[in-house]
Amino acid sequence: MFQNSCLSVSPDASDAACLGALRVGLIGTGVVGSGTCQVLQRNAELIAQRAGRPIRLVMATARNLHKAAQVVGPGVALVSDPWVLVRHPGIDVVVEVMGGVGLAKDLVLEAIAQGKHVVTANKALLAEHGAEIFAAADACGVVVAYEAAVAVSIPIIKALREGLAANRIHELVGIVNGTSNFILTKMQDEGLSFAAAVRLATELGYAEADPSFDVEGIDAAHKTALLAANAFGADVPFARVHAQGITALDPWDMVCAEALGYRIKLLGIARQCADAIEVRVHPTLVPQAHWLAQVQGSMNGIWVSADAAGPTFHYGAGAGSQTTASAVVADLIDVARCGAAGDAGRAALRVPHRSVQPAALRRWPVMPIGQVTSRHYLRFELGGHPALEAEWPSWLQAHGVELQHMAQVTHPEQAHRKAWVGLTASMRGDDLTRALASLSEQTGGPAAAAVLRVEDLA
Ligand code: HSE
Repeated sequence: MFQNSCLSVSPDASDAACLGALRVGLIGTGVVGSGTCQVLQRNAELIAQRAGRPIRLVMATARNLHKAAQVVGPGVALVSDPWVLVRHPGIDVVVEVMGGVGLAKDLVLEAIAQGKHVVTANKALLAEHGAEIFAAADACGVVVAYEAAVAVSIPIIKALREGLAANRIHELVGIVNGTSNFILTKMQDEGLSFAAAVRLATELGYAEADPSFDVEGIDAAHKTALLAANAFGADVPFARVHAQGITALDPWDMVCAEALGYRIKLLGIARQCADAIEVRVHPTLVPQAHWLAQVQGSMNGIWVSADAAGPTFHYGAGAGSQTTASAVVADLIDVARCGAAGDAGRAALRVPHRSVQPAALRRWPVMPIGQVTSRHYLRFELGGHPALEAEWPSWLQAHGVELQHMAQVTHPEQAHRKAWVGLTASMRGDDLTRALASLSEQTGGPAAAAVLRVEDLA
């Protein structure tokens, strides 16, 4: 019932229309897969001019083949078994946009073993299993391209590995999860509830199949790990990456942060320290005037500080169908220029998967979050403790916490509710936790109602 003008599913058939073309097999025809089909069709001529040869979608696999047929259009073979696709000799490059780390990993490794290049948007797969997958690709002389895995419409992987290749990267700070930034924006600017904002992000196709990956900071941690690997030429063990999302964030803190001149954003932070790296994701106060504070809705923004280029700021859509397809197709164009898969000579000339040659990859220890030094935001609700209301800054000082900026904020809708907020001097997270515990123990007053980190990004 499916048209198959370009490629037969029988292993040795070929078609004159495909001669010289880069032949693509697509795994997954959902939000990203459909955008990829649209871009490949709409811009076919331009893409061929840039790639030096046509790029043809010849086969696709999806759970629902009827729906997939609508997505890929005529002339594309549809198979229900993805193993047929990854083993088919008539395919040069596999585009994996199904997601997940189980079957997707097995299929990607099989495609590599079959000598096929891979283009993927799967950040979880590469953050968690990148070392194995990239090693397999290097051994087989194929490329695993993943621009679409991070901040979709921003070519940040290319920027780090090529445009900024001359630089030592000091730090990289980004809003890399469109869904959580969309939720925070809707809560702050339109007063939407968390649950309503999550629903809307899901309806708009921004959220992961399981939105807890977005709101728990895991998706951002996957992306930050990939960015850190490229920025520092490092093998970053994902298990060491700190991930804290926005589920426990109280909208009241957005109001209080604003009173101090800050906005709260879910940031992915990768920083090179003397003998370790920081790789962490958590809600963070950023100055209102900084570019990162201006990134709204599902947009992403990434601030990179490099020794020769200085600071650069990269901005663009962070989620969506054609926005992600833009990165997938750009990777296909790169792959089309690579020549035949398995060509070891050409493979050696390609940009390495994590920006440095595999033998040069560093294994920096990832600093535990408690040892990370930064300024912190504190909120106390001291109503009912008049002594503490007057004394809290000096109590904190006596416990080793220096406050640099303080305010008292009245809740916009509950006039009886007041918060005492302040920003500390730079200190280790562990030291602050200890000081706050001992303060609460000695005074009998309430513990800090909120503690968040601050990035001033000077
Ligand atoms: N759920 C992801 C996000 C999609 O919101 O950023 C793009 O990776």
